Amino acid sequence: MGRTTKVSGTVTVPGDKSISHRAVMLASMAEGQSRIRGFLPAEDTLRTVGMMIALGVDLQERSPTEILVRGGGMRAFVEPQDVIDAGNSGTSIRIGAGILAAQPFLSIVTGDPYLRRRPMGRIVNPLTRMGAVITGRRENTLPPLCIRGGDLRGIRYEMPVASAQVKSSILLAGLYADSPVTVAEPLPSRDHTERMLLSMGARVVREGNEVTVHPAERLRPLSLTVPGDISSASFFLVLAACVPGSTLHIPSVGVNPGRTGLVSVLRRMGADVRFASPREEGGEPVADIVVHGRGLGAAEVPPEEVPSLIDEIPALCVAASMAEGRTEIRGATELRVKESDRIGAMVRELSALGVSCGEYPDGLWVHGPARITPGTEVESYGDHRIAMSLMVLSAAAGVPVKVSDTACIATSFPGFPEALREVAR
Ligand code: S3P
Repeated sequence: MGRTTKVSGTVTVPGDKSISHRAVMLASMAEGQSRIRGFLPAEDTLRTVGMMIALGVDLQERSPTEILVRGGGMRAFVEPQDVIDAGNSGTSIRIGAGILAAQPFLSIVTGDPYLRRRPMGRIVNPLTRMGAVITGRRENTLPPLCIRGGDLRGIRYEMPVASAQVKSSILLAGLYADSPVTVAEPLPSRDHTERMLLSMGARVVREGNEVTVHPAERLRPLSLTVPGDISSASFFLVLAACVPGSTLHIPSVGVNPGRTGLVSVLRRMGADVRFASPREEGGEPVADIVVHGRGLGAAEVPPEEVPSLIDEIPALCVAASMAEGRTEIRGATELRVKESDRIGAMVRELSALGVSCGEYPDGLWVHGPARITPGTEVESYGDHRIAMSLMVLSAAAGVPVKVSDTACIATSFPGFPEALREVAR
């Protein structure tokens, strides 16, 4: 069983998931008509659409990737008539809770069995301090969450972990508060919310590791083209980077510095990854990515770098499995509470495939290059990024592997298996 002979061509990745969620939520809060192009039509982001419809927002899907939102303003939401189902989407429930915490009515938000295991105390605590009444299972730490919103006060909040979802949730609630809200982060997390709010006329001030939002009366509507998702692109980046002789183009990808940690690490591993035609679209940096494949070496990933590649660590493990030497990632405890325990999942499944690797409480190591055992059956744990990473490892090694439960890929990247078949022959 040999390597994939060739990874070549152009792959277009769908719209950025984080930006798609935020665009729908913020457009729903704006006064007037917003137009969102390049929207990601995947299960997660459609949960946010469903949440906004449940709150009475007039939202029309002109095509799967184009959405028109007629926002009635920050105070036009209505009490949802039923429980809101956020599905698998941590972003919908956590950032959405920031909006719900400010509404003078009751909302109940639940999710699928994976989401119902994910920690919510991280948003319940600050939003409660601001004045919302939020209850949930296990002493208000697990969904379903019952949110009785109302008048909020400004706070200063030191986040114990870097989290863009938590930061965004507090900032959105802060727009409704009686005085400014300041959030301090231990390490910088992605700043899409801050950028979008600025473009809508909100007062958002960044100073070092702190961001302050001032209360707002109204937000201007959005006209936005969502860039391609670097997290979706990462699977192809890794594939092309570690198969020598490959050339792959990935046009129009968002390259916000808060999201490009994987590219920095791949470059340290010796990869040839270039950002062509860098430009700015809708307040976000965008580029066409060009990757040429060659043999890679190992890398060390320190805790400071983790927030900028938090979702890309499963894909990075694939690159590490193909690379020469020992790659180590530390300071990534957060991975244990993602859609699955991604440290445990990757180490178990890579081990089953014959990769030399092991875990730490806060990370993992991988010693490559591995010889992948053909025909191995591996599990996705219902986690889209685990499923896609294992499929990429199979393609990169040129070894057939059976990944069970790949339906979860629709969470973020419908069409991924077809796109993979297209470029890896
Ligand atoms: C996201 C932030 C990250 C990331 C998640 C999406 C966002 O989570 O893992 O997939 O859109 O804000 P945390 O903010 O919890 O780190």
